[in-house]
Amino acid sequence: MTEWPLGNVHLLTLDSADATIQFGRIGGEVARPGIVFCLNGELGAGKTTLASGIAQGLGLDAVTQSPTFTLVAEYLNGRIPMYHMDLYRLSEQASLEIDLFDEYLYGDGVCIVEWAQWIQDFLPDDRLELTIHKLDKPDAREIQVISYGKLAMDVFKEWIDRWSSWQWIQQQTN
Ligand SMILES: Nc1ncnc2c1ncn2[C@@H]1O[C@H](COP(=O)(O)OP(=O)(O)OP(=O)(O)O)[C@@H](O)[C@H]1O
Ligand SMILES: [Mg+2]
Repeated sequence: MTEWPLGNVHLLTLDSADATIQFGRIGGEVARPGIVFCLNGELGAGKTTLASGIAQGLGLDAVTQSPTFTLVAEYLNGRIPMYHMDLYRLSEQASLEIDLFDEYLYGDGVCIVEWAQWIQDFLPDDRLELTIHKLDKPDAREIQVISYGKLAMDVFKEWIDRWSSWQWIQQQTN
């Protein structure tokens, strides 16, 4: 597996759930076929909230819940097919029939994987890893984004540029 240099690490702070949704929405708008968003972070960090924003950016209704009975939910009515996985229940036992996920992880849709750490060894080389941490202020979150590979880097560059512009416009209008 090619590990890309750590120069592709980016840290940003999101002050509210709404900010996380908006950030995600821009991510959904710039997403391209084949992009994989790996979401990590403790329980309640905001992974599903971010996934919801990405879904909105793809033109889908918000994803308010993670798939419960199945590990993956398919959303086919947006700009690009979106697959939302929540691997929390896989926990440390991940290994069984993991290739079941290959059609999503290596396909032409947008793949969002909560608790991606459980299948770390099976993830594509090209992917965006987003790790969310709670901060002391109740609704504040820090997100560490690492882009591995060309597609991830291209998508993230557009994402962060548009996010910066959006924040700038907010500051001017408030
Ligand atoms: N800045 C923020 N970003 C995201 N969520 C926030 C933020 N501030 C507060 N919240 C709240 O934190 C909760 C995050 O829940 P969410 O289901 O998105 O977490 P999760 O990481 O998916 O948890 P789980 O591991 O249980 O799946 C929501 O209630 C959300 O409104
Ligand atoms: Mg969740």
